[in-house]
Amino acid sequence: MSDDLLAEFVSAIPMPALMVDQTERIIAANDDAKTLLTQNIVGRHFATILRQPGVIDAIEQCLHTNGPAKARHLSNDGAQDTTFEVECRYLNGVGAVSGGAMLATFQDVSHVEQASQMRRDFVANVSHELRTPLTALMGFIETLRGPARDDAAARARFLEIMADEANRMNRLVGDLLSLNRVESEERVRPKDQLELTGLLQSTLNSLRPLAESANVEVSLNAPEGPVSLIGDGDQLRQVFTNLIENAIKYGGSGGSVDIRVESSERDSVMRGPAVRVLVSDKGPGIDAIHLPRLTERFYRADSHRSRQLGGTGLGLAIVKHIINRHRGRLRMHSEVGKGSTFTVILPR
Ligand SMILES: Nc1ncnc2c1ncn2[C@@H]1O[C@H](COP(=O)(O)OP(=O)(O)OP(=O)(O)O)[C@@H](O)[C@H]1O
Ligand SMILES: [Mg+2]
Repeated sequence: MSDDLLAEFVSAIPMPALMVDQTERIIAANDDAKTLLTQNIVGRHFATILRQPGVIDAIEQCLHTNGPAKARHLSNDGAQDTTFEVECRYLNGVGAVSGGAMLATFQDVSHVEQASQMRRDFVANVSHELRTPLTALMGFIETLRGPARDDAAARARFLEIMADEANRMNRLVGDLLSLNRVESEERVRPKDQLELTGLLQSTLNSLRPLAESANVEVSLNAPEGPVSLIGDGDQLRQVFTNLIENAIKYGGSGGSVDIRVESSERDSVMRGPAVRVLVSDKGPGIDAIHLPRLTERFYRADSHRSRQLGGTGLGLAIVKHIINRHRGRLRMHSEVGKGSTFTVILPR
């Protein structure tokens, strides 16, 4: 096969690929390989280009045994690490030198590694979150069986704590199921015709007791007349419940929570007709280092306080998925000492 033809074949492979013949020089490489490694690689000895020991071993093995070999190639473009699985295969009778050459392809497996890392983290987090209340429950059961068996006052107190812990587990399982459902429907477009101001009003009514017990004044500011949009009513109620609940729970020390609805024909972010719902508090705010991670599952800015208030850390993860399903955006602004504003932008 001529060199031109070889180069053509290699350039058609849809991932970084190169060929090395028995003189140990690179005889062909496609554009992806040149971008990954460096531009002028054809004609050079492969070990001066590929310096990672595992990859060098695999190529040598393939050239010597004429059999397949495999290795990992790690690269970093300055911003992020990428892991490639390098597959080496021997081709008989190609290349200028008799005996053949070997073809190495570089498949990007970073997302596979990332997904399995995420799954491991998730299982570890769920187990940890469940174990804490479970350990407490087991402790109290022991105490009730032993030392507190005949102490009616202690029994009543312990049962109350046990009910709290059981409730927390129940909430956690509920949130996990909810997250699962939201994620699985993320690609299904919502299609109910809704009126947003009414939905917010009724969400607020159900949060009234929480606001009163936290001594927080909640106000709703909406344009006159109906604000209609297409969405999933139950899910949007879940979004606003969590945002308002967070504002009361974590920002309530500011004394008030404001909800504002703004509708426009041309939203600067959505580039079209949209509605914005802003939930603002005047509480302690959130440090900027936490903001980008708040929508991660189980992430809490102040984990001690959140746990104490019964939070599972799943609320904003659910919010994000629901807003994605509505093709909307979530914006967070916060200044330490001044308060936070969570903005939901939905296309209309
Ligand atoms: N308005 C706010 N002011 C200050 N911190 C906030 C505010 N809203 C959210 N946070 C922080 O973000 C974290 C994540 O919120 P999220 O709603 O995801 O979880 P949670 O409220 O702890 O649990 P859940 O919503 O499942 O009950 C909270 O634990 C809290 O630390
Ligand atoms: Mg919450």
